[in-house]
Amino acid sequence: MSEQKNIGNIKVIICKDKQEAAQEGAKIFAKEIKTKPGVVLGLATGGTPVDMYKELIRMHKEGGLDFSHALSFNLDEYVGLLGSHPQSYRYFMDDNLFNHINIDKTKTHVPKGISQDIPASCQEYEKSIKEKGGVDLQLLGIGSNGHIAFNEPGSPSDSRTREIDLTEKTIKDNARFFENEAEVPRKAVTMGIATILEAKKIVLLATGNNKAEVVAKAIKSPATIDIPASFLQNHPDCVFVVDEEAANGL
Ligand code: PGA
Repeated sequence: MSEQKNIGNIKVIICKDKQEAAQEGAKIFAKEIKTKPGVVLGLATGGTPVDMYKELIRMHKEGGLDFSHALSFNLDEYVGLLGSHPQSYRYFMDDNLFNHINIDKTKTHVPKGISQDIPASCQEYEKSIKEKGGVDLQLLGIGSNGHIAFNEPGSPSDSRTREIDLTEKTIKDNARFFENEAEVPRKAVTMGIATILEAKKIVLLATGNNKAEVVAKAIKSPATIDIPASFLQNHPDCVFVVDEEAANGL
């Protein structure tokens, strides 16, 4: 059974383990998908959301959860990887979610990692989110250095979709998905903090001991540029769904 509490502005749902956290996250997404025709979902990649996506796929296959009207915008993409590259975030989304549900893939958006003019394609991405009415429900993970999307420490609260240099910490953390560390791209395109904070509702999912310290800092330290996730304290409707291990410092 999960436990709920409010810490400052942030609602925290503490689940027994990562499986329960995935189910809790999926429940919040399913409710939004069912109640809002044309829902605009903000989606995330990484190790953490995989189980939640599996649960959404199960809800689609067994319970008829209908994605046919939904749109999506992903948070980020590596610079230099084509969507056909197995470590690109476009590939991740197709493989872990879109290929298994009835979403119209032409309505799924991932920032372009390859473009002749990256600043222009970033502006285009911002414009496209606005034209669709903004993100209704945004999923986030959290980096062990406090990043949300690829907004690394030092990312200001008014930042927008842009190209960013990945930190050594992030490169090391993400090396597990590649053959070796040298293969991890050094740059990414990411939605900004301001872009993320404009979502109407935000769910941050975090599991495991290695996230306990940063989750506590994000929720309890004053909002600071050094821990970009702490800017979520300024959002009116943000929930952290965590397992007991990640809740250890709360
Ligand atoms: P993870 O990444 O889910 O692979 O831990 C989270 C993040 O970097 O946002």
